Order: sequence, then structure tokens, then C-alpha cells
Amino acid sequence: MVKKVNQSWGGRFSEATDAFVQTFSESVSYDQRLCFHDIRGSIAHATMLGAVGVLTETETKSIVDGLAQIKVEIENGQFEWSIELEDVHMNIEARLTDLIGEPGKKLHTGRSRNDQVATDIRLYLRDEIDLLIAAVERLQRGLLDLAEAEAETIMPGFTHMQVAQPISLGHHVLAWFEMFVRDKSRLQDCRKRLNVMPLGSAALAGTSYPIDRAMTAKLLEFDAPCNNSLDGVSDRDFAIEFSAAAALLSTHLSRIAEELVLWTSAQFNFVTLPDRFCTGSSIMPQKKNPDVAELVRGKSGRINGNLVTLLTLMKGQPLAYNRDNQEDKEPLFDTIDTIFASVTAFADMLPAIQPNRDEMAAAARQGFSTATDLADYLVRKDIPFRDAHEIVGSAVQYASGKGCDLADLALQDLQQFSELIDDDVYDILTLAGSINSRDHLGGTAPAQVKFQVAEQRASLG
Ligand code: ARG
Repeated sequence: MVKKVNQSWGGRFSEATDAFVQTFSESVSYDQRLCFHDIRGSIAHATMLGAVGVLTETETKSIVDGLAQIKVEIENGQFEWSIELEDVHMNIEARLTDLIGEPGKKLHTGRSRNDQVATDIRLYLRDEIDLLIAAVERLQRGLLDLAEAEAETIMPGFTHMQVAQPISLGHHVLAWFEMFVRDKSRLQDCRKRLNVMPLGSAALAGTSYPIDRAMTAKLLEFDAPCNNSLDGVSDRDFAIEFSAAAALLSTHLSRIAEELVLWTSAQFNFVTLPDRFCTGSSIMPQKKNPDVAELVRGKSGRINGNLVTLLTLMKGQPLAYNRDNQEDKEPLFDTIDTIFASVTAFADMLPAIQPNRDEMAAAARQGFSTATDLADYLVRKDIPFRDAHEIVGSAVQYASGKGCDLADLALQDLQQFSELIDDDVYDILTLAGSINSRDHLGGTAPAQVKFQVAEQRASLG
């Protein structure tokens, strides 16, 4: 009887896979992106099998050469992926056997797709994390340049979305920068925990061959082999941790996006975005929309969604490997692509924003943003802070009634509220006086902004 069944596991089957089941269960359409890491893992595995004597030297060489050739075929777009072969692993193994014959069938000795795929994803994600960290650093360098250029630019700082106190735009940009310092360290941290090797766990219980796991771990630049084979094949914590780190990174980008959308509106008019980062409207000829910022804000939704997908995927799984795990790839890959695109978009766009300095300063002059400075001034003249707060509150009420700022009141007007107010009060009621006076670590004084830029530049290296 001729039966057409899967060549990797068809031995005990008497009929071919249902056509729908084949499409339903294949993963090669998306896991082929693991191909180079799969090949790297297989080369290390075969090399180790050769070293411990499970494979002969000739067999090992033929496998390693065959895999190297497959890599070239894929790079040149000559490799034919087939969904009948289910996934990236079986596609590559089948091609190896086509190419080199018998030794190809020995590659899978002492290994299962369960430990193979768990290893592949870690290898792949490790490289992606390195690329993402580099992209975050590029974004950070751009922010430092922007912060330095805008150290003296004054804008209103907000709390409750109400004008609070004048701040340096450079200081605001450095607040964005700090978010990415934490994101970067979360990615580095995730990479450390990810860098443990499942290979050798085989299907779930390990293998009866005399494998040398320390050797494969070293060849693949893992810090160590995992300690437990059941955990090795079933753990996807690293994917969840990465997705969580990406979700937070994307949340930060989304917050910045929200500020840019506000700031570019006609009502704020704090910054202008270069045309190349905007698009128009098909009906309203006057429109120039901050679409890149809006898309980055929108994309954080799907990155958060992917995190929840992975958590939900894992929560009901008993040990050890279950096919559910195949569903880890699409959300993970989507998060990688989306976060990378979002970081890249902002790394390109943020350094190119053009601040409208006059508008920002004018906005900072509204809303009595130097009221706290007046209170501090009175405190320096020995008035308790609570009393000073009360005095300035009355002065604000008075100026508000007159429709002017505190700095526009005549000295006699101000002196009605306290005799201790003198001519020098106008120094601190100005915007520049206000920001210059906040001259301590973490404060908004331009001198502090420049100091931070220098410090952070040095630590970025
Ligand atoms: N494509 C599978 C996955 O991504 C590979 C492992 C398959 N293992 C199995 N026992 N069917 O999880």
C-alpha cells in the first residue's frame, strides 16, 4: 500500500493528513523567519554529536556543509518552503537529506523539535533584542542633541494639563530620555534571563545519548544549559518578558506621541513637524496631520494586545511542551516588527521637530506660571511658606481681575500684598529667572540640562 504521509513522523500513520488540518497546523509560513537561527542551532548540535562520537567525523562534516549550503540557498531566495513539511525545522531537515542523503537523517539524533524550537526562538530573540537596544540608543542620542539645542528654550510645564511652572524644553526632552534609560535596562535584563539553552531537553525528558550540553551552549553563546528538561521545552517566560518590556517601551513612545499631537495643533502650536513626517487630507486642503505620531500611539495598542495574548497562551498549559506553544510566534514577531518600526520612526522624527520658541514662551507667560517663584521669594525674606502661598494666591486673584500677569503689576500693586516685596522681584517673575533658579541635580535650569546631556552622552559611550 502506498501511503502519502509526513516523512518526519508518518511511520505510525495510515492515511495522509487532512488538507484542512495541514493548513491549520502549519507554521512554516511565519516561522521560516527562524531559519538562520535554526541552522545555527543544528550546526552546533551536529558538531557536538560528532565530538561525543554519536556521529562520525564524515557524517558531521557532511551535515555541517549541507546546512551551510541551505543557508546560501535561503539567502539567494532559491529555497522552496513547503507547508506539507509543516514548519521551518522539518523544511530544513528534509532539504538536508535531499542534499546529503543518509547522514541528513541522523541530525535529529538526541533532539526533538520541542527543544529545537525553544532554542531557535531564544537565539532569534537575542539578536532582535540587540538590534532593538541599538535602535533605542540611536533614539536616545537624537534626544540628547535636541535637549542640548533647546536647553534655553522656555515652555510651560504642566500638571493636570494646566500651566504649572516654566520649564526648559531641553528638560522636557530629557524626561523622555529617562524613560528610555529604563527601557534599555529592562531589555538588557530580559536578555540575561533569556540566555539559557533548552537544547538537550529533547522532547521533554532529556536523551539517552551521551550529549555534551555545555559544549552546545558554548558554541551557541548561551550562558548555560537549562537545568530542567521539562522547563526547557515549555518555558516561554522570556517571550513574555520581552513583550512586557516592549509594551512599556511602546507606552512611552505613545505618551510622547500624544504630546506631539497636542503640540502640533493650532491651539498649542509649540512645534512644527517637517513635512516629510506628515500627511495631508484628501478632502481638507489645508491639513497637515501628525500621522506618524498617531500611528506610533495606535500601535502601542497591538503591542499591549500581544502581551496579553502570550500570557493567556501560557496560563492554562500543563508541563511540558504543548502544540499551543506554536501560537507564541505570531504575537512575538508582530511585537518585534512593530516596536522596531515605532522606535525607528521616532529616532528619525524627534530630532527633526522644530520648536516654535516664541509661542512656547508666550504660553509659559500665561497661567501665572511664576507664582511659585514669588512664594519662594517671600520665603527667602523669612515668611513661612504657607503664609507666602496665601499672599501670592491673593496677588494672583488681583492680577487675574486686571487681566494681566504678576510680572505686569506695578511694584506698588505688589506691595499691597507684602511690604517685603522689592524691585528685585521682577528678576524672579521672569521666565528665565524662574528656570535659572532651579539649579540643582534634576532641576530645569539650562545649566542642569546641559550637565545632564554631558553625563548621559558619556554613559551612552
Ligand atoms: N512548529 C512547532 C512549534 O512551533 C515546533 C514544535 C513541534 N513539536 C511537536 N511536538 N509537534 O511549536
